[in-house]
Amino acid sequence: MSTAITEGRPVPGGETVRVEFEDGIAWVKLNRPDKRNAMSVAMAEDMNRVLDALEIDDRCGVVVLTGEGEAFSAGMDLKDFFRATDNVSDVERMRAYRANRAWQWRTLIHYSKPTIAMVNGWCFGGAFTPLICCDLAIASEDAVFGLSEINWGVIPGGVVSKAISTLMNDRKALYYVMTGEKFNGKVAEQLGLVNEAVPADRLRERTVEVARVLLEKNPTVLRQARMAYKFAREMRWEEAAEYLTAKADQTTFVDKERGREKGLAQFLDEKTYRPGHGTYKREGDS
Ligand code: ACO
Repeated sequence: MSTAITEGRPVPGGETVRVEFEDGIAWVKLNRPDKRNAMSVAMAEDMNRVLDALEIDDRCGVVVLTGEGEAFSAGMDLKDFFRATDNVSDVERMRAYRANRAWQWRTLIHYSKPTIAMVNGWCFGGAFTPLICCDLAIASEDAVFGLSEINWGVIPGGVVSKAISTLMNDRKALYYVMTGEKFNGKVAEQLGLVNEAVPADRLRERTVEVARVLLEKNPTVLRQARMAYKFAREMRWEEAAEYLTAKADQTTFVDKERGREKGLAQFLDEKTYRPGHGTYKREGDS
């Protein structure tokens, strides 16, 4: 992995992934614009290193995953991932698949910092996995999405079929799985694949707005809230109630900022804010 230097500190990145820091946001750009950011074996390795590094980098409060140039990502690289692993040993193939699975869903689902996918253009096939595994997603209205696997004779594999089933309803998911039909950002919003679609010239601005809201929150509670939601979703009601009660207690225990106590005091005693309108005053807030 090559590393750039900004203000005397190394910036994680590599040939295929570029990182920029800006006011608490780490912009992580898939960086193979000539190949429409198709995801190669090298990109999987770079993304694993980048996400590992950002998790412990205090310049990063929120990760925004996006693509350089006109694509978010044209999916798996048919040449530099699939064909490249067709004729290697089983062990090498499994290593490539494992590297890809690691960043695209295992790491992203359980990432300790909030993540936003900013879909700036083409988004095909395998690109649906990291898109869905980011916490939030904002798309350009004219971004183009497609489960194009059927068009070149494969199924939405990796873990794409599972990933889409967590956000899309069965009729719609199967329609796109079976037809390979493209759809735009507006439709992606209606399908629940992205939170919102905005005009292309508002995409970055809107993403920054959302990231700033997240950066204002107590980061410990934000992490616990994201994890609690993701795990509870998989549980039965009785289990979820027990787990969430325990998780809430644990959150209070691990929260060095003592958010719950401050939130209650500022609302009930000091009457300086209303939780319905925004976040309590954190240390260092002006
Ligand atoms: N894998 C490998 N190379 C790719 C991929 C890909 N997924 N997508 C684009 N490229 C390459 C092209 O081969 C081309 O390379 P070249 O310049 O060496 O010829 C270059 O990127 C530019 O691509 P174009 O097709 O010329 O770009 P265009 O803007 O006309 O079209 C589009 C973009 C629609 C994204 C088109 O490239 C495409 O259909 N790509 C494949 C999309 C796809 O089906 N992805 C796989 C999904 S399935 C899965 O991920 C498991």
